[in-house]
Parts: sequence; C-alpha cells; structure tokens
Amino acid sequence: MNKKLGLTALGASLALTLSACGGEGAGSTNDTENAAPEDLTIGVSMPTETSERWIADGANVEDQLEGAGYQVELLYAGDDIPTQSQQIDQMIAQGVDALIVAAIDGTALSAQLQNAADQDIPVISYDRLIRETENVDFYVSFDNFKVGVAQGTALLTGLGITDEEGNPTGATGPFNVELFAGSLDDNNAGFFFDGAMSVLQPYIDNGTLVVKSGQTSIEQAATLRWSQETAQRRMEDLLTSSYNDGSVVNGVLSPYDGISRGIITALQNAGYGPTQDAQPKPMPVITGQDAEIASVKLIADNVQDSTVFKDTRLLAEQAVAAATAYLEGEEPEANDTETYDNGVKVVPSYLLPIETVYQDDIQSVLIDSGYYTAEEVAAGQTD
Ligand code: GAL
Repeated sequence: MNKKLGLTALGASLALTLSACGGEGAGSTNDTENAAPEDLTIGVSMPTETSERWIADGANVEDQLEGAGYQVELLYAGDDIPTQSQQIDQMIAQGVDALIVAAIDGTALSAQLQNAADQDIPVISYDRLIRETENVDFYVSFDNFKVGVAQGTALLTGLGITDEEGNPTGATGPFNVELFAGSLDDNNAGFFFDGAMSVLQPYIDNGTLVVKSGQTSIEQAATLRWSQETAQRRMEDLLTSSYNDGSVVNGVLSPYDGISRGIITALQNAGYGPTQDAQPKPMPVITGQDAEIASVKLIADNVQDSTVFKDTRLLAEQAVAAATAYLEGEEPEANDTETYDNGVKVVPSYLLPIETVYQDDIQSVLIDSGYYTAEEVAAGQTD
C-alpha cells in the first residue's frame, strides 16, 4: 500500500518535472488556460517611437489584444538596448502572462528570456527574429528575403533595366547606383540585403549597374539603428567622395523608408530633384519599405520611387493569434518551420506576404484597403 502510494507520488512528480521542462510547449504550466482573458496581461515591447511604423504596430497589437479582452502593458524602448532589457525585466516582475517583443538588438535579450522561460511565459518574436536563445517560442513576420528581392526588382524596374515582371528590357546603362542596408544587429537586415543582391548582382557583374563608391558589402552599406540621420550623412559622404567628377547617381537601394528620407535629403541638398522628372539632376530611383505615410506622400509626389508595403494590421493579428494560442494551452499555427534559424534553433514562424507599391498602386493598395485615407496621403501624416 505504502509502496504503491510512493510510486504514484513519484509518477506525479515526474510528470510535473517533465511539464516544467517545457515538454508541452511554453505556457502549459502557467495555468493560463483556465483564466479569463481579463485576468491575463500581455507585455508588448516595441523598439522605438521615432519611426511611425512601430507606433502603428504597437497601437494595432494593443487594440487587438484589448479587443480580445486581455490587459496590455505596451512599452517603447527609445532604441536603447539597456532600456529594452530593463522594460522586459519589469514586465516579467509584474507577472505578465505572455510577451510580444520586437527587439532592438536581436541578440541582447538572452538573460531576460531565460527569466521568462523559467516562469513559463511564452515569448513571441515580433517582425525581428530574437537570436541566440532557445527561449523564443514563435516568430511572426513577413517573407523578408522576398522583401529584398522586391526592393532589388523595384530598383531595376525604376531604372528601366527590367519590366515589372522582372524581364530584362535590354537596357545596358551603365547606371550609377549606391547600396544601403539596415542595422546589422537586426536579423532582417541580412535577409533584405541578400534578397536585393540576388537580383542586382548579375547586373553589377555585367557592368549595367556601377557602384562608384565600391561599397558593395553589407558591412559597408549598413545603417546602425536604421537611422535616417546616419543614412543622410553616409549619402552626403558618398556624393562627396565618388560623384564630385560631374557624374550623377541614378539609383539608390534603400531597405527602409526612414533611410530613404535621409538619402533624399542628402540628394536634395546636393541639387538633385526635387522630383524624378526634374532637370538637370533628376532624383534617382529610390526604394523603401514599410509604406510610412511621409514616404507614401513622397511617392505620390514622384520623389521616392517605391516602397514595400507590409500590412502591420495583419502582423498584429498573427501576434495576437499566437499569444492567444499559448494562453489557451495550444500551439500557434506556423506556415514556415525551416527558414528562421536563430543560431540555437529553428523558430516556427508565420510569414505574411508583401507588396511593392509604386505611385500607381497607392490608391488600390493603401487607400482602398483602408490603411490610409486619401487626405492622409495628401498631407503626408496620419490624424
Ligand atoms: C526592420 C523591419 C523593417 C523596418 C526596419 C526599421 O526590422 O523589418 O520593416 O521597419 O526594421 O524599423
């Protein structure tokens, strides 16, 4: 009798140990399944409010979580890595039941996330993959390599080297282009640059595209913290060092609208533009990403050539769906379980589609879908 009891107790404690090890996935021992949403809090950590896209992301995630009945703790980290670490520590100390994190530096959160794992708090990596830790449960983002391909293709199309389907037109240039990449501590930067170079490199190799500065590596092209000012300064330096012989820049690969605006300012200060039709130095073909409202106006005004639209409403929806699944004791649905290796494991992901937006697409893609109103586009700012 005693022996039997002992065995049962052993079995029970073994089962407990096993589930505490995360055998059933994060959140399973945090007994959130039986709680009402209003008794659960989700911590949302966003990188910066200097970029309009992250403000929209934070607001969308917050609205949708609150719509589902949850409490939300939303904090912005001012693009400062120690601030983000400390905010996440604080949310864990406050007892959040799940975390949604868009990291500033994808490798800087290991200690915080170990802490989260120890308390069975599921962690969802939002748009930027959190690296070098096993304690990230799920990743929601877009197809980031395809974003780069779209940017490279838009540059070729804008220069008239290919048509919109990517078919060569026979134009051989040569066209002078310069290349910008994002922040190297953001896992996405490599995907964007590699995707773009996968379509640009053949045209660099055959001399159709000329990078006069010679700066073709991602390290040379990188922009710390995706900073508009840093990009402006680098463009100014490139103009001074490589274009003071009367030659002009015909195109610039830019991975993000904020960087594009820095590039545009540098070019305008050097006598380019103001538009792509202006003479004697037309604004070069400049790409972008995020369809930020200020840049959509620049596209409408024929200053910037294109952007890549990523619908942050849908991204928020996926983040909320993933958090809800964990809190209900289930696994979220992934549509990619191969691409996003964070250095420790492949993180199951849900990747959303992207869309290139040229001037002609603003109405159908951004206004008809309700992302912006025509008035907001005309004003270059949201209400
Ligand atoms: C990346 C993101 C881009 C852009 C950039 C700068 O992580 O994928 O869409 O927003 O950050 O904020």
